[in-house]
Amino acid sequence: MKKMYSWLKTGKQFKEKDEYYTPPILVKPILSFIKPNSTIWCPFDTENSEFVIQLKKAGHKVIFTHICYGQDFFSFEPNEDYDYIILNPPFTKKLKVLEKLYKINKPFAMVLGLPILNYQEVGEFFLDKDFQLLIVDKKVSFDGHTASFNNSYFCYKMLPKDIIVVHLENNNANKDFIGSKMGNDIVGDIFEF
Ligand SMILES: C[S@@+](CC[C@H](N)C(=O)[O-])C[C@H]1O[C@@H](n2cnc3c(N)ncnc32)[C@H](O)[C@@H]1O
Repeated sequence: MKKMYSWLKTGKQFKEKDEYYTPPILVKPILSFIKPNSTIWCPFDTENSEFVIQLKKAGHKVIFTHICYGQDFFSFEPNEDYDYIILNPPFTKKLKVLEKLYKINKPFAMVLGLPILNYQEVGEFFLDKDFQLLIVDKKVSFDGHTASFNNSYFCYKMLPKDIIVVHLENNNANKDFIGSKMGNDIVGDIFEF
C-alpha cells in the first residue's frame, strides 16, 4: 500500500475534481520555455507525474512534493533554491494557490482552464498582476473523454511575449488518449481504501 493510504486515513477529504493528472501531450508545450539545466519545483506532483518525468528527461533537476508525502503547498517550501514552479494545482484551491505564487515571486507556469476568466473574483485578482498565457490550440482531454473547455498555461515571467499560441497534434481524446502515469500513484490506492 502506498503513502496516499495513510494520508487518506488522516481523514482529509478527497475531492475527485482535484485529481485530474496532466497528460504527456499538455506537458510538452512548456518545455521549450525553460532555460537549460534549471531546477524546478513541482509542488503537486509525485514521482510519476508527467511533469516530473518529462522535465527530468529534458535535463532539469526536479523537486517534486505532494500532500501525500506530508508536504502541503500552503505551508511547505523547498530548502534549496529553484528557478521555476511548474504546476497543475487542485482545481478547488486555484485562487489560494495563485495568491501564494505571487508572494513567492518566482517564474511559474500553471495549468488552468481558460473559463476561469469568466469568474469576477479571478478578474479582480489579476487587476494588479502581470501574467502571460501559453494557449494550446486544442481542448486537451485528461481522461480520454472529449474535453469541454481549453486547459492552457497561466504564466509569470516565463514567456518571451505575453500571449503565445501553440499547436498540438491531437486533443488526447478517444483513440488518441494517453493518460498520466501519476494516476497509478494515487487513484489505485483511493479505490482500495
Ligand atoms: C490536479 S492534480 C494534478 C497533479 C499533477 N500536478 C499533474 O499535473 O498531473 C493536483 C494534486 O494536488 C494534490 N493536492 C491537493 N492539495 C494539496 C496541497 N495542499 N499540497 C500539495 N498537494 C495537494 C491533489 O491530491 C492532487 O493529486
